[in-house]
Amino acid sequence: MSEVIAIEGGHKLNGTVVVSGAKNATVALIPAIVLADSPVTVYGVPNISDVDALGVLLRELNCEVDKNDDVLVVDPSNLKNIPLVSDAVDKLRASYYFMGALLGKYKRVKIKMPGGCYLGPRPIDLHLKGFEALGAKITYEDDTYLLEAEELIGTQIYLDFASVGATINIMLAAVRAKGKTVIENAAKEPEIIDVVNLLTKMGAKIRGAGTDTITIEGVEHLKGCTHEIIPDRIEAGTFLIMAAAAGERVIIQNIIPQHLESLISKLKEMGVKMENVGDSIIVYGDNKNFNAVDVRTQVYPGFATDLQQPLTALLTQANGQSQVIETIYPERFRHCEQLNKMGANIELDESMCYINGKTPLKGAKVEATDLRCGAALLIAGLIADGITEISNVYHIDRGYANIDQKLITLGAVIRRIKVDD
Ligand code: EPU
Repeated sequence: MSEVIAIEGGHKLNGTVVVSGAKNATVALIPAIVLADSPVTVYGVPNISDVDALGVLLRELNCEVDKNDDVLVVDPSNLKNIPLVSDAVDKLRASYYFMGALLGKYKRVKIKMPGGCYLGPRPIDLHLKGFEALGAKITYEDDTYLLEAEELIGTQIYLDFASVGATINIMLAAVRAKGKTVIENAAKEPEIIDVVNLLTKMGAKIRGAGTDTITIEGVEHLKGCTHEIIPDRIEAGTFLIMAAAAGERVIIQNIIPQHLESLISKLKEMGVKMENVGDSIIVYGDNKNFNAVDVRTQVYPGFATDLQQPLTALLTQANGQSQVIETIYPERFRHCEQLNKMGANIELDESMCYINGKTPLKGAKVEATDLRCGAALLIAGLIADGITEISNVYHIDRGYANIDQKLITLGAVIRRIKVDD
């Protein structure tokens, strides 16, 4: 049995939605906990299936895990560093953060190649080069990595690309290395700062998070602490786009507006009316006569690749031709074919697409090929004529907490149906 989301389009969104904790911070913070020798409590944990999968992995490692609503307590004091080779590793890409964390703590880790959304090739060579530079020997056999080191020794690491995953993973190992590690051309995403904040509370010595040079002074022990996760800027951005597409007056709460500057300026360029009040943004939906815009995805603080797919759905409603150029994942365009099934007119080119608008959308049977494609289809479904049925909903559940309930509260007509595979 699998699940399908059915949305009846044309219902206006109104009211307030509260953004959950950031998925891409959470999925790094949870593996980071194994570095501690005593319990860690994390608040604001989103209710998403990626968190469940990481919980399974923590339990396999003999950690005590207790999750109550959005509070997660993990006690890693009796951790057993067994190989991570179960199906839970395949469920998400971020299982690879156990590499850095377990290598850092035990100087040895065995883990299967991680899974995650298919967005084109997603190598982990920069992570591995970083671990090798710290002194790890790496072997790969039967889809499984073994990383071992006599000791990890701090060093200078230049990343050829400012990779989010590599920056975090190398930090997780380097916090327990001997001496100083400097990561040059480090990624600057807010989620990295959140992970550094957790590690610092655990006793790590890290400077420069949020800049392109991060310096880590290795320590002998890390201890438990409490931490609150930052709001999810991609979920917040998705709701901003949903409100622009289908809203009358929608208040999106628990936002750090600075994290969303590139999206907010694009939405303004399109003609979307918004107001920032404290940690909320109010979107006024009276103007549905949008301007076409051009977007180029870039590392933070540039336009987030994760919001490119949702924005494309809105751009089908803009007058004229918009362009989306993808510089992070050149093949992240599988949503376009699905949107075209609903009546969009999107042409694909190398690493980019042209969206010819404005096109009315009609309900259709479509497939969430990956997480943010799913978000794009939800947006399209909200404004389409008739009923849109989205299959492979598990992709959406990996990253959007309680999405059905949040949308229903705003006035969307949406339900889940179980179907035979
Ligand atoms: N890359 C390499 N070698 C590496 C690592 C990355 O070539 O060793 C390349 C990738 O193939 C890609 C680019 O560098 O072309 C960027 O990859 P990055 O490592 O920055 O991304 P990531 O850590 O795998 C995280 C998020 C993604 C988000 C990207 C970019 C998590 C768990 N995932 O992925 O989120 O798109 O950063 O911001 O944090 C999503 O939430 O839908 C999602 C895919």
